[in-house]
Amino acid sequence: MATSGLSRRKALTGAAGVGLALPVLAACGSDDDGGSTATEDPTPSSPSSSGSSSPSGPASSSAPAAAGFAAAADIPVGGGAVFPEEGVVVTQPTAGDFKGFDIQCTHSGCPVSEVTKSIVCPCHGSEFSLTDGAAEKGPATEPLGPVEITVTDGQISRA
Ligand code: FES
Repeated sequence: MATSGLSRRKALTGAAGVGLALPVLAACGSDDDGGSTATEDPTPSSPSSSGSSSPSGPASSSAPAAAGFAAAADIPVGGGAVFPEEGVVVTQPTAGDFKGFDIQCTHSGCPVSEVTKSIVCPCHGSEFSLTDGAAEKGPATEPLGPVEITVTDGQISRA
């Protein structure tokens, strides 16, 4: 009887002695004449974003809070523009003189829709003065209501 004295040793030898952490570089010698598309995968190890350095804090404290609903430069002299979302029609009868009026026509309440040499209501054709909103052509007889506006840094806003 062969007694194989196998004494169990609990020697833990499972640790991999040398960690093979070799970077597998694609060292393929590309001596071939490029017949196939070389699948060069540019690993995004280097941040190749061009020039976006870390923005440290938005510079918002110095910005003027003059966010108007329109630019003064967009209002033609001798004309105007309608801003339905604001409920305002802005005119510039003479250069640098801005007027604001309610867009609601005083005849039956339609919103005025365009400004030519006057403010025009599309419903029944009433026309109003660019200067003071007075009814220049009926059926409306009452002027458009005034709306106070301010022009700050070229931006028009409600006062
Ligand atoms: Fe404007 Fe009648 S509602 S002209």
